[in-house]
Amino acid sequence: MRHSKESGGLCAGRVVAVTGAGRGLGRAHALAFAAEGAKIVVNDLGVGLDGTPAPDSPAAQVAQEIRSLGGDAVAHGGDVATERGAASLVATAVTTFGRLDTLVNNAGFLRDRMLVNLDEDDWDAVMRVHLKGHFLPLKHAAVHWRAETKAGRTPVARVVNTSSGAGLLGSVGQGNYSAAKAGILGLTLVAAAELGRYGVQVNAIAPAARTRMTEAAFATTMAAPADGGFDAMAPENVSPLVVWLGSGAPSDGVSGRVFETEGGRITVMDGWRAGPGIDKGQRWTPAQAGRAARELLTRAEPPGPVYGAS
Ligand SMILES: NC(=O)c1ccc[n+]([C@@H]2O[C@H](COP(=O)([O-])OP(=O)(O)OC[C@H]3O[C@@H](n4cnc5c(N)ncnc54)[C@H](O)[C@@H]3O)[C@@H](O)[C@H]2O)c1
Repeated sequence: MRHSKESGGLCAGRVVAVTGAGRGLGRAHALAFAAEGAKIVVNDLGVGLDGTPAPDSPAAQVAQEIRSLGGDAVAHGGDVATERGAASLVATAVTTFGRLDTLVNNAGFLRDRMLVNLDEDDWDAVMRVHLKGHFLPLKHAAVHWRAETKAGRTPVARVVNTSSGAGLLGSVGQGNYSAAKAGILGLTLVAAAELGRYGVQVNAIAPAARTRMTEAAFATTMAAPADGGFDAMAPENVSPLVVWLGSGAPSDGVSGRVFETEGGRITVMDGWRAGPGIDKGQRWTPAQAGRAARELLTRAEPPGPVYGAS
């Protein structure tokens, strides 16, 4: 979609930073925000599917793509899981466009292994890129927004974090990734509670789409229909909700929520809630506690199935 700097749009004039926006979902989000009038900081370190260095610079390509469509964009090639990369991401928005309004945390990669084969390095790398790669940009953006508030300019700021069905339900062969993506949900809840006073709303999505991360492992599910019908797994289908969550007034009042989004479907994910419980008012013996737990489980909702479990 062509867009001009003068035209309106849901995000007209907002400055949006999207991490990992050189391809896949992040690229689709960046283009969709630009189409709604936002100025974009397109971050991408340009790494391979497992996080190893790659020779390309996809952030520059996407920034150029947005500019060629009449939008405003700047590339940022830093590693968002480092202090330096996260701080310079926020600084790039402020020095280039004078402000930051929305942060979309999206960058990441996979190192899938069954737990018995999962090396410490693969655990650390995946926890680092997803969990620290969410925390550090969020922290630096929050410091910026707190300073704005103290200067009397309370922002209308938004953060959209990227979790996964793996974080919500678990996924066989993805112990590291599931733990990191579940951690992002906890981080989202805390950030929403802490940052509301600075005008910041924080939400998370759990997307599903055809990208290099999924097209090989789930080739059939992710394939575009041969008959030219609705291409449900196109990453562009996830972006409209992200753009709305990242907009100003339109998404006012929505914070600390998690949405699953894929194809034409949007689902609010209800978090952990207290199910059946019992209070003895005294310490249980292990055998008594076991009997009580079994009785409670007969009245509890069964959990959703873990992805990939047989
Ligand atoms: N594709 C899906 O179905 C799906 C499902 C659930 C969650 N997700 C999540 O969505 C997000 C985007 O995934 P995608 O499918 O578009 O994958 P992708 O591999 O196409 O894109 C991820 C991008 O992040 C970049 N990146 C990696 N490490 C980085 C770092 N340290 N700093 C900056 N950039 C970095 C990569 O270079 C890459 O361009 C990820 O967080 C992923 O876990 C995707």
